[in-house]
This record gives sequence, C-alpha cells and structure tokens, in this order.
Amino acid sequence: MKITYYGQSCFLFEIGKNRVLFDPFISPNELASSINVDDIKADYILLSHGHQDHVHDAEQIAKNNNATIVANFEITTWYGNKGIKNVHPMNTGGKVTLPFGTVKMVNAIHSSSLPDGSYGGTAAGFVVETENQTFYYAGDTALTYDMKLIPEQFDVDFALMPIGDNFTMDIHDAMIAADFVQVEKVIGMHYDTFPYIAIDKEEVMEVAKLADKELILLEIGQTIEL
Ligand code: NI
Ligand code: MN
Repeated sequence: MKITYYGQSCFLFEIGKNRVLFDPFISPNELASSINVDDIKADYILLSHGHQDHVHDAEQIAKNNNATIVANFEITTWYGNKGIKNVHPMNTGGKVTLPFGTVKMVNAIHSSSLPDGSYGGTAAGFVVETENQTFYYAGDTALTYDMKLIPEQFDVDFALMPIGDNFTMDIHDAMIAADFVQVEKVIGMHYDTFPYIAIDKEEVMEVAKLADKELILLEIGQTIEL
C-alpha cells in the first residue's frame, strides 16, 4: 500500500483501488501549505475524534469526492447534519468490513468535542486489516494497557502513533505502546504542528533506535510504499 503524509495526523492510504484518508487537518496547517486540499482524492475518510486538528478539512474533501466519513456515531451525525450523505457510524469495539479491509474502532484515552463545541463522543483509534497488511492508527491517545488487547486479535505490521507529547503520548510512551501492540515499525504523527508539540527529530530517532524500533517520520507530501 502507498501512504502519503499531509501533516499532523493526516495520512492518505492507497489500498488497491481505494483511497482512505485519516484525520484531515491541512488547510490551517502552515507546515502543509504546499498541499492543496482540493487535489486530494479520497473514497473514505476515517476520523479518530472530533478535534479541529483532526477534522478541519473532512467536510470539504468529503463533498469534493462524495467520500464516506467513517467515525463514531456523534461525529457522523454531526456531518450528516452538514449535508454529508455518505457516512458510516461506528463506536468503540465495533468493526465493519469495507471494500479496502476490515476496520475495528479501538479505545483511545483522549477527549473529543467537535469544532463548534458539540459533543464528539469518545476518542478512538482504528485497526485496519487489509488483504496484505494490518496496521494500527492510534489517533490521539495516552499510553494505555488496552493496547495489549490488539495483538491478541491482530498481527499488526506497523502502527501510526502520536509522539508530540503534551496532548498525547511522547516518543518514550509510543515505544512502550509499540511493545504492547507487538510492532517493530512505527510511523510518527501529531508533532511539530504547534509549539506545544514541537519535537527534536534527532532525539526521537535516537530514542526509537535505543528501543529497537524503526521510527518513520515522513516529510509533508511524501509518499512511501509499505
Ligand atoms: Ni485531539
Ligand atoms: Mn490532536
């Protein structure tokens, strides 16, 4: 699968013929000024929680592409009221099989309100099991023992984890999380967008190396194949 990074916690996955976008926060992100939201093609938009830095461009991209928003019930209802026709509501612990794979919504320890202050349900992560690979998108979360449940049910190939500290795990907790999930390869997210979550890239790479993990920090706009 191909993975393109659009900054903060936003990634586009190209899985077979399907284009799956996570947590689009692009147009307000100064670090992502080279990315034009209207150029992004997506079939599905998965939202981990309702915070602005995860959903800001979801409405526009959904409308541009007639994409389906997959999120918790409160968030999909909110988008339904905004005129988004294609939504798939879920809640923590549930799973759904979509054309690109099976998506399980898993626990995240975080809060969730929508940009206008509406209740956003609880924050979540996703485990996505595709034909060839399984990955864990942690969303915004603290380190939690709940992560140990994931390898009991899935053989995870790689994980996307927040490393920016302050609002989520830092790199040290993310490395423990990687052990909990039993994964060697971690794509870092949720760092550098705001001063609160600025990181020292050399330092985090060193921490990952000492933890015997492969940490991947993508440039914004960069695409990799995994
Ligand atoms: Ni958040
Ligand atoms: Mn966030």
